[in-house]
Amino acid sequence: MSNYHIKHLEEYYQVYRKSIREPENFWEEVAEEHFMWRKKWDNVLSWDFNKPEVKWFEGAKLNITENCIDRHLSTRGDKTAILFEPNDSSEPAEHITYKQLHKRVNKFANVLKDKGIQKGDRVCIYLPMIPELAISVLACARIGAIHSVVFAGFSSTALATRINDSDCKMVIASDGSFRGSKTIDLKGIVDDALEDCPGVNSVLVAKRIHSDIPMKEGRDLWLQPLLDAASDDCKAEIMDAEDPLFILYTSGSTGKPKGMVHTTGGYMVYTAYTFKNVFQYTENDVYWCTADIGWITGHSYIVYGPLANGATSVMFEGVPSYPDFGRFWEIVEKHKVTQFYTAPTAIRALAKEGVGHLEKYDLSSLKVLGTVGEPINEEAWHWYDDNVGKKKAPIVDTWWQTETGGIMITPIPFVTPTKPTYATLPFIGIQPALMDENGKEIKGNQVDGRLCIKFPWPSMARTIWGNHQRYKETYFSAFKDKYFTGDGALRDEVGYYRITGRVDDVIIVSGHNLGTAPIEDAINEHPAVAESAIVGFPHDIKGNALYGYVILKDVGETRDHNNLRKEINQLITEQIGPIAKLDKIQFTSGLPKTRSGKIMRRILRKIACKETSNLGDTSTLLNPEVVQDIMDNAL
Ligand code: PRX
Repeated sequence: MSNYHIKHLEEYYQVYRKSIREPENFWEEVAEEHFMWRKKWDNVLSWDFNKPEVKWFEGAKLNITENCIDRHLSTRGDKTAILFEPNDSSEPAEHITYKQLHKRVNKFANVLKDKGIQKGDRVCIYLPMIPELAISVLACARIGAIHSVVFAGFSSTALATRINDSDCKMVIASDGSFRGSKTIDLKGIVDDALEDCPGVNSVLVAKRIHSDIPMKEGRDLWLQPLLDAASDDCKAEIMDAEDPLFILYTSGSTGKPKGMVHTTGGYMVYTAYTFKNVFQYTENDVYWCTADIGWITGHSYIVYGPLANGATSVMFEGVPSYPDFGRFWEIVEKHKVTQFYTAPTAIRALAKEGVGHLEKYDLSSLKVLGTVGEPINEEAWHWYDDNVGKKKAPIVDTWWQTETGGIMITPIPFVTPTKPTYATLPFIGIQPALMDENGKEIKGNQVDGRLCIKFPWPSMARTIWGNHQRYKETYFSAFKDKYFTGDGALRDEVGYYRITGRVDDVIIVSGHNLGTAPIEDAINEHPAVAESAIVGFPHDIKGNALYGYVILKDVGETRDHNNLRKEINQLITEQIGPIAKLDKIQFTSGLPKTRSGKIMRRILRKIACKETSNLGDTSTLLNPEVVQDIMDNAL
């Protein structure tokens, strides 16, 4: 018997040990007892981190939507699968039962097929948080098409890059979106992007804001009439466990975004198993993750993990501040939410507004609170614990990544004693290692180092779309035979992990990963700019904000600096999206560089963080004199 639901600390240690000693046996039992396979695997695991190549449940056949929908129909057909809460609180919530979800996914899948989408084709989904987003994801999975969801806050340039990188044939979009008091012209963004995407031959458009938008003849089609006409019966395509399920882009420190490829069988098993345990999900719970499905958190813990467990998963279209900062709590009370999973940046923004908004609502339904996306500071942790959970709902600080597919280091609520700011213990099957700069593993406790994973887990990304070499270089080259996460971590005296943050040039702003290179490229496109460098600095709500150092081409540039700042941020918004805008822009005559011409970001980071008392060794710089100048003019 597998231990699908861990309830005591003893049991955690016992199951953990088994998952490490006999990983194949362990995962085989979980997979066998809790999922629906069309054919069992020939081999549980084969792996080689050198190549790198990882295969789980090779030879097995399945369709993930049969696991997430069909198999619940006889027992939970009338249970709510997706509970949609609209942006506008006066609009009624929509309860989509498993039976209804089944019909809607099948209809959508038939529309995709009718428009020529086949197994293995890539479909780009650029939608706000409306039911069609979850349904289109599942419809792709139903027919074996590979979905590539692009967060609907990305600009047309960012969207086009992602569409072209994975050669998407179709885009699924909406006429627009509601975000708080604003409406956004999403279709306009798609139209701009598609100017540069010759491979896209159709666009399905969902109606959300009912605006009168141009539809391109022969390419754009309104979705609803097609759904109305489609059959609600669609046989699930039988997939191999290692067939790609989706591509999801994440920023690297350099170069283009990386299209992380997740496959079907292992991803399903791991996201479902983690969901059950990390949220201690039980049958009548109402689970709410506030992330957007455009990010991995939404893929794994709004759609696949919860639905694989037959859960009720809330999908919220709006923002925490609309109509006021009580919105989250209003929703918790209204739907009697039992598990609430959000990001530290949201917690900090809510904390800043005080407890007045909280006190108006009954939050007694809450059993488990979760956080993800960046390190949570102690103050925010306590605010969440004291005021939202009233010290009765344990906080699960879940560390993981787009690349890992599922939660990796986390407490199990009511099982693992929590400790503020600590993600605590590795989840079942996860073997972390801390490494020193020379590539040696640091054993023992009370140590810190670079966080790696020593052994494969079922939901790890298998490659970067179209660039396996980059996958190898980014994740498997820094430390031999280990997956390198890019994060630093420390391990305390009892073996709890605390994630200390990125050790590369990725900066996490409001929980969004941003690579420095693409932002600098955008800045450098400004005709007045010669060169730029960006770094992160601490921000009360966003965690980190961006600080840009910009060298202008013409030293005697007479244009108003504030106007230049606006133009630079406008360029960033166009190239990447508003999330990547800079909070501070300092114009400078030079950037500190090594003799080989590399920008010394360490120094720039210290100046931005106002930690100038010890700048470290600057003697190796090509131009040490600029450091004083930058410090004198720091913002
Ligand atoms: O630096 C870590 C941070 O977010 C990075 C992964 O970002 P992304 O791929 O966008 O996925 C976010 C949602 C899973 C990690 O490398 N991070 C994520 N969770 C935590 C965290 N840092 C500290 N504590 C966490 N709980």
